Amino acid sequence: MGYQSRRLFCGILFWLKTTFAVALAFAIMAVLSLRVYTKHKDAMDERAKQPINTPIAIDPANLGCQYQPGGLARLEPAQGVLMGYSPNWNPDVPTTINQRLGRRAAVFNTFMRLVNDPVNPVDQNMLDWHAAEVINAGGIMALTLEPIDMLGVTDAVIDKVTDHFRRLNAGGCPIILRYGHEMNGEWTNYGYRPNIYIPAFQKMATAVHAKTNLTAMLWSPNVGALYPFTATAGGSTWQTADPANLALLDTNGNGIVDAGDDPYMPYYPGDEYVDWVGLSLYYYQDAAPNAVPKATFFDDYLEGQNLVAYGADANVNLALRNFYQRFAVEKKKPMALSESGAGYLMNQAGATELAVKQGWWEQTLNTATLARLTQLKLIINFEEQKNEAAYVKNWAVTTKPEILAAYNAHLTQLGAAVLWANKLGVSCDGSLKTSA
Ligand SMILES: *[C@@H]1O[C@H](CO)[C@@H](O)[C@H](O)[C@H]1NC(C)=O
Repeated sequence: MGYQSRRLFCGILFWLKTTFAVALAFAIMAVLSLRVYTKHKDAMDERAKQPINTPIAIDPANLGCQYQPGGLARLEPAQGVLMGYSPNWNPDVPTTINQRLGRRAAVFNTFMRLVNDPVNPVDQNMLDWHAAEVINAGGIMALTLEPIDMLGVTDAVIDKVTDHFRRLNAGGCPIILRYGHEMNGEWTNYGYRPNIYIPAFQKMATAVHAKTNLTAMLWSPNVGALYPFTATAGGSTWQTADPANLALLDTNGNGIVDAGDDPYMPYYPGDEYVDWVGLSLYYYQDAAPNAVPKATFFDDYLEGQNLVAYGADANVNLALRNFYQRFAVEKKKPMALSESGAGYLMNQAGATELAVKQGWWEQTLNTATLARLTQLKLIINFEEQKNEAAYVKNWAVTTKPEILAAYNAHLTQLGAAVLWANKLGVSCDGSLKTSA
């Protein structure tokens, strides 16, 4: 080959290679873009499946804000029960629970403290992270907010924290706010002190109600079956130490707080401040061996029946212990089992873990119970294991394959009576929409 033809050959080769390289680069870029695009589209589709977590304009000018939900409370489903879980948040989070369930739970609970610091009254980063996790998984956040000094909560603190709720709501995270829970027990600093508790709850409710419709106020005492929970016979000294509290608590006027008194009403902040009512109601085992809950345990505790059989004082006033009738039915409020579950005593003799837990979900979640207790609209299972006194107690229903399989089969059987996040949407007026 002469110089000219070699040069031509090299030139052709060069351009062929270049064209090939450019084409290859384009092809690779196209493939990569397509992958990015499909990932993005899948993510958007996922998001579209969770209309409840779509950002929303909280603005009275927004047309969606201009009608009242027909007779329902904020975030109350017209019918059906929302299923929720309270994860330990480390390492378990909403998404991992959903993955195990193969469903999107409607509600996830978190516990946070409220401190009297107007700059950072709740751990903001932690709350934001919890909200992001709830949005990721789908659903509503149940926020259990525990004031460490309820008397000292200032207007500035309330203002700051309610602005935060409004921001989270606008970002697609509706909130059921359980403020100052279990106020009828002695284990909280605001416990047994309605003269502090009631005005503090009202103040929070007023601020929340003014700022956003997508945060609901949940008033949630401990189940009062064994109230008052103190061991001292004939009442104890803390009540009488504060005459203002004694006057509120001694509902039968016999001078002491005892089993004849009302475990709930003295703590009720009032209809206009309360959107949801709820109870902490567990199947609690104090000592081994493990036993299956009595078939009527849940109803007995919820509606104040047969309580002496569970160790209540013989003078117990049963009518006052019918929480469901008095607060859910008569006050027409949606009711939550804000914390619930059956605690199995690990590595102890007696009934199996499956039998204990199944005994509980079969009575709280069954077609007949749900059809009768139509105001029961949310059940949150405490999805944790904890050391308590001499025992390791476990309430989780999704962490062990054999328990999960039985639990999931039970849920499937209940069908549409149980509401999952992919069926939910919200409006700016606070109404919860459910789709088939
Ligand atoms: C809440 O909803 C009502 C109507 O139901 C509306 O008038 C009001 O502006 C809403 N409030 C906020 C803060 O969005």
